[in-house]
Amino acid sequence: MIQFARQRLGNKARFEVVDLDQPPEIAPKSSVDVVVASLVLHYIKDWRPLMRELHRCLVPDGALVFSLHHPITGWLLSDRVDYHRTELVSEDWDWGGVPVTAQSYRRPLSSIFGELRRAGFAIDTVEEPRIQPSPDIDAELFNTLNTQPFFLFVRARPE
Ligand SMILES: C[S@@+](CC[C@H](N)C(=O)[O-])C[C@H]1O[C@@H](n2cnc3c(N)ncnc32)[C@H](O)[C@@H]1O
Repeated sequence: MIQFARQRLGNKARFEVVDLDQPPEIAPKSSVDVVVASLVLHYIKDWRPLMRELHRCLVPDGALVFSLHHPITGWLLSDRVDYHRTELVSEDWDWGGVPVTAQSYRRPLSSIFGELRRAGFAIDTVEEPRIQPSPDIDAELFNTLNTQPFFLFVRARPE
């Protein structure tokens, strides 16, 4: 992915790979305008060090924008023993004919927003997105995506 990004943007951007489970100092303090994390955070078990680090990197009027598996989707994938815990859930995907099992962390809403608040973020926007009709999407998938909870979009700002 880094190679593709480099081909596309050349030296207009800097690319680094970091393990978000153990975030190093990602960027200098107050140097980042916007952090975008698309469908990444549900792979991270402990949000506390990462949220603290993202808050440190952002400029005071910056924003953290992310998408996440919807907590209801995660709950339906879980054994439904305890909603209030954060737990690893598994999902089977058909990857062009190859079966794969993907694992991610389901967490309750109070944990998602609590971690943001604890790190010093104010919640700015919460969306449960739906999609526009498109000839590229078959009718059944379109209906599923637009009638069931799949993703949560959040924008948070440093307080
Ligand atoms: C579903 S993909 C999303 C990719 C891309 N952001 C997008 O929206 O198309 C999940 C991404 O999370 C990354 N990821 C998972 N665990 C990670 C970790 N501990 N540290 C850094 N990246 C991680 C994976 O490498 C993968 O690129």
